[in-house]
Amino acid sequence: MYLYHYGLTELPFSLTPDTDFYCELPVYSDAMNVLRVALESGEGFVKVIGEVGTGKTMLCRMLLNYLDKRAHCAYLPNPYLSPNELRLALASELSIRVARTIDQYQLTQKINSKILKLHQKGKPVVIIVDEAQAIPRETLEALRLFTNLETEKQKLLQVVLFAQPELDQRLAKPELRQLRQRIAFSCKLKALDTQSINVYVNHRLRAAGLSFEQVAGGELFSAGAIRKLLKYSRGIPRLVNILAHKSMMLAYGSGRFNVEAIDVKKAAKDTDDVVFNYWWFGLAATVLIIGSIYSIIMAGWLT
Ligand SMILES: Nc1ncnc2c1ncn2[C@@H]1O[C@H](COP(=O)(O)OP(=O)(O)OP(=O)(O)O)[C@@H](O)[C@H]1O
Ligand SMILES: [Mg+2]
Repeated sequence: MYLYHYGLTELPFSLTPDTDFYCELPVYSDAMNVLRVALESGEGFVKVIGEVGTGKTMLCRMLLNYLDKRAHCAYLPNPYLSPNELRLALASELSIRVARTIDQYQLTQKINSKILKLHQKGKPVVIIVDEAQAIPRETLEALRLFTNLETEKQKLLQVVLFAQPELDQRLAKPELRQLRQRIAFSCKLKALDTQSINVYVNHRLRAAGLSFEQVAGGELFSAGAIRKLLKYSRGIPRLVNILAHKSMMLAYGSGRFNVEAIDVKKAAKDTDDVVFNYWWFGLAATVLIIGSIYSIIMAGWLT
């Protein structure tokens, strides 16, 4: 691998959402601000929407770190659960010991009283759900019912939903209108632009131990390489990681240090889900087809 070649201590573009590599770009700090404000104002539901690979799980982990001492968090990374399974998962996250055969009414009572106790101790309960687009409808409803628990001033339980845009499509349906109205705060994770990609790439390289003093010109990825990263990744961090990693392998393979646009272009050819701009090919094919039809018609007329 290229670790020694670049003098790195670890791989800079691994696909795991490792918070040591967190890069505080405006899109993420804006989302974190919305989350902080929403949680401080005691609103029931908050939602963060982002396309696949835009950094929801990373943000989820940053929020868990931020809330560590401030609240009691129940983290549901995989919410494809029935309402009963949700209650059992919640009980486990709230350290309530119950038999799996417990009656659901009793279980709900136990969860409610634990939430109340934690509130009295000054620990608000926050449920953080990743992949929330996958929660079954009845389970969403069960979650909503828990947020009915409130004092005169504030909710005793808050829920943060991290989800792909499919959740918004589901929330638009009439049967989920009650939940939709409860979501007072929400934000969307936008794709990164060229400048953000530049900051992002350099930040991850630095976190992986790259010493920029050794880099000719001060930038490992040339301006052209960054532009190509934007073009092929559409500004999606996971795709940026895949392309940046492969580009570094290619530069290393050809004995170079700096990563150039051509490396990213080659990396993109070998990567699924990147964008290739074949408009000129489409245009040429259309012109050819129209040209052939025209000549056939003309030939028919002339004979
Ligand atoms: N703010 C950030 N700083 C550094 N790296 C990030 C950041 N956001 C995302 N990444 C990186 O981008 C990749 C994708 O992030 P993540 O897994 O959080 O996306 P996701 O939105 O949860 O994707 P999915 O919809 O597939 O669950 C990871 O490798 C992660 O480390
Ligand atoms: Mg995720």
